[in-house]
Order: sequence, then C-alpha cells, then structure tokens
Amino acid sequence: MFSRGPFAQCETTQNREKGFGASLFGYTKLYGQVPGGQAEYLRVPFGNTLPIKVPEGPADDRFVYLSDVLPTAWQAVQYAGIPKDGSVLVLGLGPIGDMATRIALHLGAKQVFGADVVPERLARARARGVAVIDTTEQEDVVSAVRDATGGRGPDAVIDAVGMEAHGSPLATLAQKATAVVPDAIMEKVMQVAGVDRLAALNTAIEAVRRGGTISLSGVYGGATDPLPLMRMFDKQIQLRMGQANVWRWVPDLLPLLTDEDPLGVDGFATHHVPLDDAPQAYMNFREKKEGTVKVLLKP
Ligand SMILES: NC(=O)c1ccc[n+]([C@@H]2O[C@H](COP(=O)([O-])OP(=O)(O)OC[C@H]3O[C@@H](n4cnc5c(N)ncnc54)[C@H](O)[C@@H]3O)[C@@H](O)[C@H]2O)c1
Repeated sequence: MFSRGPFAQCETTQNREKGFGASLFGYTKLYGQVPGGQAEYLRVPFGNTLPIKVPEGPADDRFVYLSDVLPTAWQAVQYAGIPKDGSVLVLGLGPIGDMATRIALHLGAKQVFGADVVPERLARARARGVAVIDTTEQEDVVSAVRDATGGRGPDAVIDAVGMEAHGSPLATLAQKATAVVPDAIMEKVMQVAGVDRLAALNTAIEAVRRGGTISLSGVYGGATDPLPLMRMFDKQIQLRMGQANVWRWVPDLLPLLTDEDPLGVDGFATHHVPLDDAPQAYMNFREKKEGTVKVLLKP
C-alpha cells in the first residue's frame, strides 16, 4: 500500500486496534495520540523516512508548507481530476483552499473560482487571478458558477472547508466541546454523532457539473451525517477524499520551491510571531482577525 501512494493508509502504521488509518500528530487516540504537530520539539516516529531533506539557503518559509498545506492542496487538485482547459470551484479560501487555487492555476485549469466571505482571503485569491465569489450561501454560489460555465457548473469542486463550514450551529458545539470535554467522551462523539455541518459539501454537490468530481480536503468527523445520495447518484458525481498522503506528493512539489516561486510560498504567511505569541495568533486565526490567513511560529 505504502509504495502505491496512499501513505495515510500505511499498513505498518495504521491504528488497527481502533480500526483507523495512520497516526497523525496532535490527534486523539483514534489516530495514535502522537503529541506535537505544533510544538517546539516533537518526537518523530520513523525518523529515517518521514523527514524531507531540503536545500540549504532559502528561508524556512519556502519549505515549511511541505508538511501540510502544499501536499494537502496538491492532493485536493489531483483528486479533483480537472480536465485540460477545465474549471474548478474551491470552497473556502483559508490556507488550504487558497493554495489549491494557486496549484490549479499553475497546472493549467482555465477557470478557477473561489468562494468565501473573509475580505482578506478573497483579496489574496483575486490578486492571483481567481474569480472570487463573495458569499457562502449555496444558492448564490451555485448560480454564480453556473452562469460562468454555460449553465453546467464547474468540472470539479474542492471542499476546503470541512466541519468549520458556516451554516449550522451544532458543530460549533462539537468544536467548543473538544476543548473542555474529556478525550474519551469526545472520541465517542466523533465516532457516533453527526455534526450537521455539511453546508459546504452540500454546496459542492449542487454546484458540480453532472459527471463532475468533488474533492474533499476539509476534515469531516461525524459518522452519521446523511448525504443526498439520490442527487449524487443522479448527477453521477465522483467523490474523492482523505488525509493528505504527504510523501506521495513531495517529489512533485520540491521542484516548484525555487526562486521563481510559482506558487507564491515565500510570501504565503501573513504573520511571523514568536512561540510566546502563539495563543493570540491562534485566536486571531480562529476569529479571522487582523488579516490572519497563515501564521508562522518562530521558536
Ligand atoms: N486532508 C488533509 O490532510 C488536511 C490537511 C490540512 C487541513 N485539512 C482541512 O482542510 C480544511 C481547510 O483548512 P484551512 O486551514 O484552510 O481552514 P480555514 O478554517 O482557515 O478555512 C476555511 C475557510 O472556509 C470558509 N467557509 C466557511 N464556510 C464556508 C462555506 N459554506 N462555503 C465556502 N467557504 C466557507 C471560511 O470563511 C474560511 O475562510 C479544514 O477542514 C482542515 O481541517 C485537511
């Protein structure tokens, strides 16, 4: 399995006793409970295979996104299967969605749409040639992209929102609860409950053209959320998703991290702050204050 590409499904590191995939830094027991991910020091399991060797010289900004944003967004675009000269709608212009629009444009998509409501995020995407849609209302997003694609809808939709979607109150509760409810209880909730936060996914299902592809990079946790299967079957929708298979995409990405900087990684961070300021930076990111799109912590 490992050699075929879906590294996040690695058969050596799966959490078999929980029936879940490969371990993730900073997640619950379901995903191995490996601490860290965003810490000054962390233990690196499989230290002989996981680290990525990068050239000496350029600032960290150039390579740091190889651990998350770049492979996640690259996978989202690969899974979207945008045909030559095709179109794609990216829902959510946070770091993942923003980077997905850049990659789609770089790989030759003819029309790249991006929907969000945060002014700074829309402005960043617009500046790089994305046709931005300043709303997250399903009806408005769907009609905007249909109007621009001869009534059909885009060939692909990338959902870069996940459970944080605007649209329903229940997941806010689930998210807030993660901070205060003991891990064991929250683990159960994530396995058996629905989070009723499918606003972005439902927009994707409506917006995509018949026979098109939806690529999910947004993380969904609730196990019982209903999907409109009749609509999906009728529209012959193809759906691809999953945790980023980081190493699968590193050889494709490294050659793009040059002085020419085609994906604009050098200026991707909006804020550089010392570790001591991390709590405030996290707060600003969550509240989307002070133009915070991506923060780099300097230990
Ligand atoms: N698959 C993976 O391996 C992987 C890796 C990293 C992140 N992720 C997930 O990707 C998702 C995006 O990450 P991020 O850091 O860019 O998040 P983010 O929260 O910064 O960005 C999400 C954006 O979506 C917008 N939004 C909310 N509801 C919307 C709607 N209905 N339609 C359109 N836009 C809407 C928000 O305004 C926000 O700007 C998250 O779910 C994250 O957990 C997945």
